Amino acid sequence: MAEDIIRTKTGIQGLDRALNGGIPSGNMVLVSGGAGTGKSTFCLEFIVNGANTFGEKGLYLSTEQNKDELYKQASLFNWNLLELEQKGLVKIIYYDPTSGDGFPQTFNDTVTQFKPKRIVVDSLTTLLDSLLISGISDEKGFSLVQIAETINPIPRTEQIVTKHVLYSLFKVLKAFKITTLLTTEMPENGKTLSADGVSEFVADGVIILQYVGVGSVDFRSMTVRKMRYTDHSKSTLAYAIEPSGISIKESEI
Ligand SMILES: Nc1ncnc2c1ncn2[C@@H]1O[C@H](COP(=O)(O)OP(=O)(O)O)[C@@H](O)[C@H]1O
Ligand SMILES: [Mg+2]
Repeated sequence: MAEDIIRTKTGIQGLDRALNGGIPSGNMVLVSGGAGTGKSTFCLEFIVNGANTFGEKGLYLSTEQNKDELYKQASLFNWNLLELEQKGLVKIIYYDPTSGDGFPQTFNDTVTQFKPKRIVVDSLTTLLDSLLISGISDEKGFSLVQIAETINPIPRTEQIVTKHVLYSLFKVLKAFKITTLLTTEMPENGKTLSADGVSEFVADGVIILQYVGVGSVDFRSMTVRKMRYTDHSKSTLAYAIEPSGISIKESEI
């Protein structure tokens, strides 16, 4: 490996090798897939490995599962999130997108004070929807909320507004220069790599998780579809969700 770029290792069995050593640090990477493909598990493992193996702090912003639900999911893999939180290595923020509160105003402050090396946004799809719905009318100042406020109230198509909010959200997150994973639902029609159809172009990387059923046999596959600033495996990688976490199998599909 001639390049000497700094990388953030996922610690996910077999994945760092497929990434030529890890995710280039500071990249914003979409983890895209259908329901149940393991996006949240992937992100949790990224945060837990960061803390346990590499001593790196991780911030997990969840819009879908609350803290107790995340503790429960993690405990199935023997990951003790509460302990990692108590050690100051992990911080979990649950944001209820239906609360109508707009985005937590503390997010910027938390990132600034906590200084995580890793951030997860699970899910970008829900966050984007709630920014579009509640953020626009929010008058209080917070940069992520202000994103929505910058939208000119002249009627525009939903797609343009979505794009605007998305670009602004990425800009804010990118300014932190922290390796970030964002989950997004990938439509089954296969026309786009994310629910919004735009973020795959803005993101530095896209990792696709798929669940394929063929007759009575089913398997999971992972593809690094895009990863800026590094070469990477272009193969479709078989993976499994095991009691120890996600593991890429040597065999390629
Ligand atoms: N402890 C476990 N052992 C094996 N597989 C699991 C375990 N926990 C969850 N899974 C699998 O992972 C899937 C859910 O993963 P999750 O990360 O919540 O998916 P997503 O966030 O993409 O919806 C479940 O449907 C199940 O197949
Ligand atoms: Mg999930």
